[in-house]
Amino acid sequence: MLWEAEYASKVTTTERLLEIIQPGSCVYVESGCGEPQYLTKHLIFDNMSLSDVHVYTSVPLRCYADYGGDFGSRFRIQTFFVAPAMRSAFAEGQADHLPLSTVGMFKLFHEGYIRINTAIIQLSRPNEEGMLSLGVMVDIMRTIIGKAEKVIAQVNRHMPVTNGDSLIPLSDLDYIVEHDEPLVTFSQEEPDPEIIEVGRNVARLVDDGATIQMGFGRIPEAAMHCLQGKRNLRIHSEIITDTVVDLAAGGALASREDGVVANAVTSSLCIGSAKVFDYVRENPEVELQDLSAICDPALILHHERFIAINGAMEIDLTGQSCVGLGDPTSFYGALGHAVFNRTAMFTPGGKGIIALRSTSRDGRRSRIVPEFTDARIGIITTQSDVNYVVTEYGSVNLFGKSIRERALALITIAHPRFRPWLLEEAKRKKYLYEDQVLPPDDAGFPGDHEEVRFFGEREVRIRPIRVTDERAIQNLFYAMSKDDRFHRFLRHMASLHHKQAQYLVNVDHTKSMALVVQALGDKQERIVAVAHIAPDEESVGRRVCEFAVMVDPAWQGLGIGTHLFESMIAIGRTLAYEIVRAIVWRDNHSMLKVLEKAARPMSRSADSHAYQVDIAL
Ligand SMILES: CC(C)(COP(=O)(O)OP(=O)(O)OC[C@H]1O[C@@H](n2cnc3c(N)ncnc32)[C@H](O)[C@@H]1OP(=O)(O)O)[C@@H](O)C(=O)NCCC(=O)NCCS
Repeated sequence: MLWEAEYASKVTTTERLLEIIQPGSCVYVESGCGEPQYLTKHLIFDNMSLSDVHVYTSVPLRCYADYGGDFGSRFRIQTFFVAPAMRSAFAEGQADHLPLSTVGMFKLFHEGYIRINTAIIQLSRPNEEGMLSLGVMVDIMRTIIGKAEKVIAQVNRHMPVTNGDSLIPLSDLDYIVEHDEPLVTFSQEEPDPEIIEVGRNVARLVDDGATIQMGFGRIPEAAMHCLQGKRNLRIHSEIITDTVVDLAAGGALASREDGVVANAVTSSLCIGSAKVFDYVRENPEVELQDLSAICDPALILHHERFIAINGAMEIDLTGQSCVGLGDPTSFYGALGHAVFNRTAMFTPGGKGIIALRSTSRDGRRSRIVPEFTDARIGIITTQSDVNYVVTEYGSVNLFGKSIRERALALITIAHPRFRPWLLEEAKRKKYLYEDQVLPPDDAGFPGDHEEVRFFGEREVRIRPIRVTDERAIQNLFYAMSKDDRFHRFLRHMASLHHKQAQYLVNVDHTKSMALVVQALGDKQERIVAVAHIAPDEESVGRRVCEFAVMVDPAWQGLGIGTHLFESMIAIGRTLAYEIVRAIVWRDNHSMLKVLEKAARPMSRSADSHAYQVDIAL
């Protein structure tokens, strides 16, 4: 039989299909932007013959305002992802959420834990060989079609034919209803300034050449936006949106001309507007694959520098994060989120990033919390999976950190207004030292003093010190020789306990500064030098700050001491000091050399042991 005849034999109308869904049966309705709206309306919503039907769906975007709620005994929604439009049904307990990963969702249907009686799907018009495309929503539809007893397809000319794993043969279909209508579209709300700043901080963690997974939500969307300007990126993501089209147009994505063999974009679901639907239409640069393949950890592990960008509703001080019911405007569900976050950090140079606003939109609640506020919210990223966490106040890497270190690190990226509360709560829970202090609230972090440069062959990052650098500063101290410690602290010191070390890392940036030099490429984030200037409390009349520095013996003689001294002279000036003072032991020839090299006007007074060197600013 020619395919045209087979096609014609399957074409029918919704009126003839009303009784095909038996009482008590299971129906899978394709969702997202692939939702067959015409079929959904006639076969589900308006179908009075339904009785006690379970309707499964994965990412419902619309038409579901009261799905389950008003429909009472006719049907009940079972969804893997909860959309704001369905919140009333969930709030009333009239719909069910299945918190499951994508791979779990595939297993559920593939292995028959749940049997689907009827699948209601949407496809493109047939191509010349009589194959129809799943178009913008490949999802797990191949599995659903393969397992369902009956498959009803809405054939819609608006559904584009897409490249990849999207073609379905006519033999897989039982009934075809032809109905053209624009696809469901979806756009995230405009980001507010805080979310844009979160996005910028995420983008700072992404290098050229990385492969990106984006979660669903305003924050991953804002982060993707901020990747404009990067080069040679690839996308490997469950979902792509209009933002990917912007990145492609802006030249941020890898192209075959760059010598990249594989597609720049590999995905499974397009959620957006005609912009992304047109982009994926027969585009050889975009491959839409089965969701189970996209989320397969073994395949993710083939990538280098895989960056997973996902949002969260709250993160607790131990590093576990949740998505959930708290915010009525948010979508939530597990799907690929946890797998991507967990697997990304095991790819060479990869990162799992959980990004969130530091507060609720009205600013009244911290999103970094001692304990989750809603018992119904689901923990998606566990303590053992957490890697990078980003807010508008910066980013921290929690991988391999103790609960104490995590709590402290998270407090440093919390909203400043909530930091004292979090500090007290963390102490109450015995996460932190009883005497733990934080830099004063009004001391904003002076991020503009950051630079990456080489000393000889060695690449370093120079940046202001953070309260989380305590252990690294202790390590530096213990790497110094006895004489070097004596020169730095002007007295013999055998150890540097937390009580002493925390004052080296807690800097009031309104009147002091400390710069650290961090060895790049060192997984331990080793600090190889630190320099301080702090007000000289004993000086009267003139504004004097005291300078001190220490450089790891293995890194001395490369010019680091001199560079830090010059930087501190400049910073001392911006802090309106008139004099930078160094107390230098008479036998400290290398420090005297550093001062000499600076060739600035200086006065030197001496007692029997030390020089007091004053540099006028
Ligand atoms: C002093 C110190 C900070 C210098 O750091 P550094 O990164 O080695 O400094 P630089 O490489 O910029 O410069 C060091 C200079 O001292 C010279 N130098 C080193 N040892 C010397 C010595 N015994 N006699 C004379 N000059 C010496 C180096 O050759 C270099 O000069 P050059 O660039 O002309 O060759 C480092 O040795 C240190 O941490 N010492 C212990 C702590 C300390 O003394 N801190 C100062 C307290 S204020």
